[in-house]
Amino acid sequence: MHRHNKQSSRLLILLSLTTSHLLRFSTLTASAPAASPSRDKVAMPPPLPVLPLPSSSQLKWQQRELIMFLHFGVNTFTDSEWGTGRESPSVFNPVGLDAGQWVSAAVAAGVSLVILTAKHHDGFCLWHSKYTDHSVASSPWKGGRGDVVGELVGAAAEGQSGGGVDVGIYLSPWDRHDRRYGKTLEYNEYYLAQLQELLTRYGSVKEIWFDGAKGSNAPNMSYDFTDWFAMVKELQSSANIFSNAGPDVRWVGNENGFAGTTCWSTINRTALSIENGSNLDYLNTGDPAGTDWVPAECDVSIRTGWFWHKSQSPKNLTQLLEIYYNSVGRNCLLLLNVPPNTTGLIPESDVERLREFRTAIDTIFSTNLAEGCSVRASSNRGGRNNGGFAPENVLDEDHLWTYWAPDGREERDGYYWIEISSGGSSLKFNVIRIQEAIGLGQRIKRYEIYVEGEKIANGTTIGYKRLHRLKKGVVGGRNVMIKILESRSVPLISSFGLHCDPYYWHSK
Ligand SMILES: *[C@@H]1O[C@H](CO)[C@@H](O)[C@H](O)[C@H]1NC(C)=O
Ligand SMILES: *[C@@H]1O[C@H](CO)[C@@H](O)[C@H](O)[C@H]1NC(C)=O
Ligand SMILES: *[C@@H]1O[C@H](CO)[C@@H](O)[C@H](O)[C@H]1NC(C)=O
Ligand SMILES: *[C@@H]1O[C@H](CO)[C@@H](O)[C@H](O)[C@H]1NC(C)=O
Ligand SMILES: *[C@@H]1O[C@H](CO)[C@@H](O)[C@H](O)[C@H]1NC(C)=O
Ligand SMILES: *[C@@H]1O[C@H](CO)[C@@H](O)[C@H](O)[C@H]1NC(C)=O
Repeated sequence: MHRHNKQSSRLLILLSLTTSHLLRFSTLTASAPAASPSRDKVAMPPPLPVLPLPSSSQLKWQQRELIMFLHFGVNTFTDSEWGTGRESPSVFNPVGLDAGQWVSAAVAAGVSLVILTAKHHDGFCLWHSKYTDHSVASSPWKGGRGDVVGELVGAAAEGQSGGGVDVGIYLSPWDRHDRRYGKTLEYNEYYLAQLQELLTRYGSVKEIWFDGAKGSNAPNMSYDFTDWFAMVKELQSSANIFSNAGPDVRWVGNENGFAGTTCWSTINRTALSIENGSNLDYLNTGDPAGTDWVPAECDVSIRTGWFWHKSQSPKNLTQLLEIYYNSVGRNCLLLLNVPPNTTGLIPESDVERLREFRTAIDTIFSTNLAEGCSVRASSNRGGRNNGGFAPENVLDEDHLWTYWAPDGREERDGYYWIEISSGGSSLKFNVIRIQEAIGLGQRIKRYEIYVEGEKIANGTTIGYKRLHRLKKGVVGGRNVMIKILESRSVPLISSFGLHCDPYYWHSK
């Protein structure tokens, strides 16, 4: 009854607000009839966004494309993936640890964010925590004075070979060592205390990684995620929180590094759960009707395991490129795990593979064959010379805020199209890149690509970046057209590229 009253009074306020807005609007329009600006002097405003939108931190995150995970801890020394929690700190002794080498490897791979396992399921802490002695402080490494988190943060800030990298933290909720685990209040206090140490001692932290991983025989307890997330935002407002339910970045639903061919950055957070696990297909593809912007991150290890094992070796370049096309090329971020060894260094074989990987990406994408071509489109918001929404915008260096926008009226052909033409010579390529202006929302639902009238590729979502590596191999043609058949509101294309991937060619 009480609730009913509250609702109806809210309704009344809304109604009266609406009426006063309407009144004000009609007064304004009545008093300023001739103020319509002269069309060639004043720019056309951008189209309205389609909600939900990314936050500023999510937009920065998306542009990183490739980030790195470092799984390191007692498991490195015991040749295991999941520690038992009964490891003696005396096993941890990475005598040659050099976080500068990790950062150099990351920078050489074009990585701008490195996430460290500050604590894995075994509960061993890579920093000095006031709340436990199960940490580097009890290890022989540097006589118990070493701090891996501190060393990484220091090296990252020093910006080995320019620029530096940002740091992220993984603090495992499941803790097989600590006696408080299983006692809901005590453990949540312990966890939150450690989170505060990590978020206040080490400067800026750009991503916090949470997961619900837990053995089937682990004690039953619930995590106060709401408190944890609130504390993260309070102490590090620009950090993105990752988990299989967001809130800022979601898990892609597998550990192969593959996103769905349909991949929306939008999803309903209310349909996701960290503890109970979320529907993997839903995580993989997202939701075109989703009310929240929670883009997906693809985590995969350069080796078979997450921790270093003497018996394993890094994936080859062909495999890494396949992962790249299926993650970055499907509107996601690639979180590539590169584990340091017992010496405390990333093995030279993996460093070398990372270098090859970056060289390959740069080789493929540094040349855009569409550059210098002429561009036409089905229509153009504000006309060709008014407002800066011309189709040529898809060929500039800005992949977010300059874009082609159609005029929004019904298209004559029943679909939107944009076409690039070389004029004379035939363009030869095997990779097509399309990017949407996601700052105004993710829109495109279905499209087809034609080369000289022949359909060579099609797809559903585009998002920040969609890459098509052509099954046919290299194709040639003087003009390439994208037809956009379905879209939430008008499609906005920020970039378009035709590229040649020599690695694909040779590996076929
Ligand atoms: C775990 O505890 C919750 C209450 O905290 C209870 O609802 C649930 O049934 C328990 N699960 C198991 C597997 O014991
Ligand atoms: C998990 O599922 C159980 C049983 O279906 C439910 O009672 C509980 O509220 C769920 N927890 C979360 C966090 O969704
Ligand atoms: C997500 O939420 C929207 C808005 O409430 C709804 O239309 C849509 O059906 C939801 N998606 C799913 C998969 O339930
Ligand atoms: C890369 O590794 C995959 C999987 O082991 C293998 O099938 C493929 O032949 C390898 N490619 C090259 C070029 O070594
Ligand atoms: C770890 O990697 C470094 C760099 O390649 C190498 O010098 C060292 O021998 C490796 N340690 C082990 C135990 O393999
Ligand atoms: C792409 O084209 C194939 C073959 O014409 C068709 O089966 C598929 O449904 C199309 N996919 C989309 C998303 O349009």
